[in-house]
Amino acid sequence: MKHIAVFASGNGTNAENIIRYFQSADNGAEVSLVVCNRPDAHVLQRAERLGVPSCVISRDMLRDQETIMSLMRRYEIDFIVLAGFLLMIPPFLVGQYNRRMLNIHPSLLPKFGGKGMYGDNVHKAVVAAGEAETGITIHFVSEQYDEGDILFQASTPVEATDTHEDVARKIHELEQIHFPRVIAGALLSC
Ligand code: GAR
Repeated sequence: MKHIAVFASGNGTNAENIIRYFQSADNGAEVSLVVCNRPDAHVLQRAERLGVPSCVISRDMLRDQETIMSLMRRYEIDFIVLAGFLLMIPPFLVGQYNRRMLNIHPSLLPKFGGKGMYGDNVHKAVVAAGEAETGITIHFVSEQYDEGDILFQASTPVEATDTHEDVARKIHELEQIHFPRVIAGALLSC
């Protein structure tokens, strides 16, 4: 059995979808831990409801190698998924989970990536730029924001009348369809 940790900072729709996918499929993996940097984040309630242990960490704890690696060892974590996690991953963790850590970004990288580009900020920028399409990018995590090797992209049209809420809804649908399946594929080769 492979053990996945999902790192998330907010609502946690992706975290919940990933947890449910691995709970319902007999594919040799499960989400064993949710790591969150905000004690009031809704993802923590989702994890509790689904019976997955969670841990709240501060920015300083994330940067402390012994703290994080002992947490990863305690839950025997093989693979890390960033699902709306907004803190920078420290280099030691990128190194330890080289090609075993995936992030999802709500645009077609390299467009609309980098620091400050998350959630609605991305959708607002896409609409403001008059893009004809947007999408999701699932990539391995490197030491730079949004720059690791891309594993998967899916696109969706942006209509001239779309608001950033419309774009958010389309992105959400793509994330729900594709993210768990792409994680399962990446797990096969790690
Ligand atoms: C998702 O849309 C994800 O792509 C985005 O945050 C949202 C989290 O939603 N990630 C980023 O913007 C990373 N730069 P959720 O908490 O409902 O899963």
